[in-house]
Amino acid sequence: MIVVTGATGNVGRLLVESLTEAGHAVTAVSRGVTSPPPSRPGVTPMVADLADAGSLAPALKGADALFLLVSGAGAHVDGEAVLRAAADAGVSRVVLQSSQAAGTRPEAVSHAPLAALEEAVRSSGLEWTVLRPGGFTTNTFAWIPTIRAQRKVFSPFGDVALPAVDPLDIAEVAAAALTGGGHAGQTYVLTGPEATSPRQRAEILGAALGEPLEFVELDRAQAREQMVQQMPEPVADGTLDILGQPLPEELRSSPDVEKVLGRPATSFASWASRSVDAFR
Ligand SMILES: NC(=O)c1ccc[n+]([C@@H]2O[C@H](COP(=O)([O-])OP(=O)(O)OC[C@H]3O[C@@H](n4cnc5c(N)ncnc54)[C@H](OP(=O)(O)O)[C@@H]3O)[C@@H](O)[C@H]2O)c1
Repeated sequence: MIVVTGATGNVGRLLVESLTEAGHAVTAVSRGVTSPPPSRPGVTPMVADLADAGSLAPALKGADALFLLVSGAGAHVDGEAVLRAAADAGVSRVVLQSSQAAGTRPEAVSHAPLAALEEAVRSSGLEWTVLRPGGFTTNTFAWIPTIRAQRKVFSPFGDVALPAVDPLDIAEVAAAALTGGGHAGQTYVLTGPEATSPRQRAEILGAALGEPLEFVELDRAQAREQMVQQMPEPVADGTLDILGQPLPEELRSSPDVEKVLGRPATSFASWASRSVDAFR
């Protein structure tokens, strides 16, 4: 049995689907705050809070492998306690969803907790794989309200291009690492196949919708004001640093999705044509 945390989120939801379609028994864990944990054949939904490692014990009972995803920067999670609970329950393999920035900016307040969680995973004694995704294609879901209401996209750093990754690619790499061989001790950087700027993403979404979208560039302070309503201030600041002043490694596409899946990473245009209904 495989325990998937963050099971109702962008990646976890797709990972639960991918694992159950392949015939694996899954325990799907979340707090049930945003939506109830998924309930479908092959899935046992469980409510637990990663901030309280003890609450995970019923979910971990009888598990072989754990997909560990913490929301935000993960500052609320005691990684060592969670991993101890997993080891005590007999889990032998853990796949951590971290962030590319835990590697490129490990000292940043925004990403230091994920860097510490990586360290806890690597020294847990379990067989481990760390996934370091860059920015998700699904971050453009934040544009839905103004696209629907005004046919406009408001975003900072309109011409800074980064290789956004499709959460489905992350989920498929996670499924491979949870169930296959050859991934122990690996740290994979997961990105899309090419860099696109916010302005280009707005153009691609407009083409998918069959209606052009107007791009309105926000300055950093305006963007921050919006972001702090959704995330802690240090996470907003760290994210804006990446979006506005990316480091050379953050600009490059990584070969790791293709290396693991044997197919190219999904382009923003493919993700957009699959996801366009969410913007209508
Ligand atoms: N978005 C990006 O561009 C990006 C880039 C790199 C890395 N990341 C990392 O990816 C992760 C987010 O992944 P995602 O977008 O798939 O997640 P998400 O869509 O934000 O969903 C978070 C999931 O975790 C659950 N959850 C939240 N707090 C919890 C807690 N205390 N205990 C148990 N479950 C909890 C949520 O359900 P409930 O709320 O109901 O509990 C939900 O299922 C973060 O660690 C982030 O740093 C994101």
